[in-house]
Amino acid sequence: MNQAAPSAQRPALAAPMGLFLPCAGGTEGLLADEVQVLLQRHAGVAGVTPGLPVATRRGGVAIEPEAAGVRDVLRLAMLFNLESRLAQRVLLRLAGGPYRDEGDLYALAARQAWTDWITPQQALKVDVTAVRSPLRSINFAALRVKDAVCDVLRAASGARPDVDTRRPDLPIVLHLEEDWATLYVDTSGEALFKRGWREDKGEAPLKETLAAAMLAAAGWAGRAEDGPLFDPCCGSGTLLIEAAQIACDIAPGGQRRFAFERWPVWQPLKAQWLELKAAAKARVRPSEVALHGGDVSFRLTDYARRNAERAGVLAAVDIKTADALQVLPPAPAGTMVLNPPYGERISPKGSKTARDEAPSDFYQRLAAHWKRQYAGWTAWILSPDPKLPGAMRLKESRRVPMWNGPIECRLFRFDMIDGSMRR
Ligand SMILES: C[S@@+](CC[C@H](N)C(=O)[O-])C[C@H]1O[C@@H](n2cnc3c(N)ncnc32)[C@H](O)[C@@H]1O
Repeated sequence: MNQAAPSAQRPALAAPMGLFLPCAGGTEGLLADEVQVLLQRHAGVAGVTPGLPVATRRGGVAIEPEAAGVRDVLRLAMLFNLESRLAQRVLLRLAGGPYRDEGDLYALAARQAWTDWITPQQALKVDVTAVRSPLRSINFAALRVKDAVCDVLRAASGARPDVDTRRPDLPIVLHLEEDWATLYVDTSGEALFKRGWREDKGEAPLKETLAAAMLAAAGWAGRAEDGPLFDPCCGSGTLLIEAAQIACDIAPGGQRRFAFERWPVWQPLKAQWLELKAAAKARVRPSEVALHGGDVSFRLTDYARRNAERAGVLAAVDIKTADALQVLPPAPAGTMVLNPPYGERISPKGSKTARDEAPSDFYQRLAAHWKRQYAGWTAWILSPDPKLPGAMRLKESRRVPMWNGPIECRLFRFDMIDGSMRR
């Protein structure tokens, strides 16, 4: 798994189940805010109650519904899978306990009621994340947990499930710290950035979850007062489409399936799940704000349009093939949010830009163009280059650290006020 490991979660041995939602590093606070908003907004729906303890941890957010039964926790997992834009997945904690060796891990796993979670006809997979674990082989730890699940099922029914590392019905996550092990089931299956609408992608597409975190950090929530949004380097359209879905109130998970839908323990909740999805569909509305995207590559604007169509927001977006170094603002004022081409990943290729031009020249020219033409706009740029403001000769008004996978980035805010922000 490439997600940050859930850390510092040490529930008492008999603690009830809880949820852990991993997210991109630096976005934990934004995800905690999103979780609180979702709990408020959906209070009463499918048994969801506001006021649950929500804690920000390194790499994610923990939700600890006190004294909740498995179905209560699964209901919450349904909600976050369907509605969270920032979570990378929704992990449900089954159990935790101290360990010294693989025998302890086998014993911990063998105590769980796996017949609730998987049938012998289905397949499982065990992923391990580890922080300072003394074990020599993480793979062996995974194998012992797999053995425990299979032994529990064989004892109950005489047959055991298979292993499928690509599309398991039951993805299990074992998280190991120095002397503590936690067992989770992954209710999402495929990572949540896979919304189900992106089939066409460019060379360096942004994950949908990080695009949503950028918009949240910018405070842009698709309300009329948030004003127009413009991504002048939109590539396959991730930011723009994410923004359009927010503006139209489209649930991010409405177009995909989740691992929990295959679990025996979840089957009694199916009617509630269908209700939750139907309510999400019924609330979709036209956008109140204008959404613009541009890219210098015709191929990519074509991809962006096709993706927007699949995401149900084609009517809400305006996408043009244009050079960011020349394109005029689509409105007198608004918010730009973008992850422009950077360094070796993609070279800037505006029409007047030499192929071998240094990235800093591209940024200098972009800033000069914005200073001349974009007074009244705010630009939020995600970049791995801490010296970007210097290269643009602009002073940032905010700098938000954010990890794009393994790459440490910052989201810079620049307010374009008639060239007065020049250094
Ligand atoms: C890092 S990618 C953006 C990826 C995008 N956020 C996505 O998720 O697909 C940068 C994009 O900038 C575009 N680009 C490069 N030079 C440009 C220019 N001068 N004007 C507009 N777009 C440009 C590239 O074609 C590329 O699609």
